[in-house]
Amino acid sequence: VDLDSILNLDEIEQVATKNISKKAWAYYYSASDDLQSKSFNNAVYRQILLRPRMFVDCTSCDTSTSFIGNKVDLPIYVSPAAMARLAHPDGEWGIAHACERFGAMQIISQNASMTPEQIVADAKDRQVFGWQLYVQQERAKSEAMLARMKKLPAIKFICLTLDAPVPGKREDDERSKNIGANLPVRAAVQDESVSKTSTDAKTPSKPKSMGMGQSLFWGTAADLTWKTTLPWLAQHTDLPIVLKGIQTHEDAYLASLHAPQVKAIILSNHGGRALDTAPPAVHTLLEIRKYCPEVFDKIEVWIDGGIKRGTDVVKALCLGAKAVGVGRAALFGLGAGGKEGVARVLEILKAETETCMRLLGVQRVDQLGLHHINTRAVERD
Ligand code: FNR
Repeated sequence: VDLDSILNLDEIEQVATKNISKKAWAYYYSASDDLQSKSFNNAVYRQILLRPRMFVDCTSCDTSTSFIGNKVDLPIYVSPAAMARLAHPDGEWGIAHACERFGAMQIISQNASMTPEQIVADAKDRQVFGWQLYVQQERAKSEAMLARMKKLPAIKFICLTLDAPVPGKREDDERSKNIGANLPVRAAVQDESVSKTSTDAKTPSKPKSMGMGQSLFWGTAADLTWKTTLPWLAQHTDLPIVLKGIQTHEDAYLASLHAPQVKAIILSNHGGRALDTAPPAVHTLLEIRKYCPEVFDKIEVWIDGGIKRGTDVVKALCLGAKAVGVGRAALFGLGAGGKEGVARVLEILKAETETCMRLLGVQRVDQLGLHHINTRAVERD
């Protein structure tokens, strides 16, 4: 396929769907139960209207910004998503390559199909990565992984995912559990960190036939708490912490009490893959604005889920998000054309974001605000 002929993210998804295996498609596309949260995620952006201003010079347009002190060229980043090599052999390294070209940040999933060392192998000095952690029942495994991150200066923070102590019920993924995959369903980081640590005799052995999501979550701890987990983490990393999967203003507020160890929260419902009918992140963002706006002064608020257009990115920024993540779009980009496909995704999103900013009458990201949007349709309560 001529990637330049692909004009938007829906077309990228269509091309990828033709290219990748049925099992990979089911794993990437799937969300929990009835896919309600997944569909709200995108629909909510359609409900928000833009308020363009006239007679503003928009010859220049600058999309650069910073995430917890790290300079980036795009307010858009790649969310942590597992098993990228199911889409293309370039895998997470290919995503890193594309991000480098656009000065975009990438968060590496603990369940990546390549090791973090492989993914950051060609990283340039200016490149920004985070590493995402699912705390393991056997804490020693997580501690070994955190020790490895200390040796990788490209990794600027630890992103602790909270919204999936157990995986959601993803039926497309379950249905494809008996289709053979061309890769072992196993996170690359685990193979190396874990081989020398003992296997807990109390952990029941993993059933042979499971959906990809169920299988990757095997061994994840379900006993994390505000009181115990952050102090444990502080003993094993000096990196800033980003908490992913916050879905209420109450939890956003609690997270802000943990500044400066916690530097940012990611409002996310895991792309609709954890609790179905959980709110789209935009609702959580609006709640925070209403009930505890001081959160924005203490920590950065990032957001992901359902981003398909530059106008979606701009609306999230107007609402106060500092960073906007894309999950499936990067995986489908890989499926459509390896690292060049991911680069095309970022190119499309960057161009759409610039066009939107220009047509709104804005030259810089920090000029975007509530005055550029009308959120009446999402604030009926
Ligand atoms: C994810 N997501 C995810 N999140 C995380 O913290 N760790 C992970 O390993 C994964 N793995 C993963 C795999 C796949 C295939 C998908 C689609 C998603 C969630 C991800 O970080 C992000 O929250 C959502 O993907 C954002 O929604 P969109 O952009 O996919 O709509």
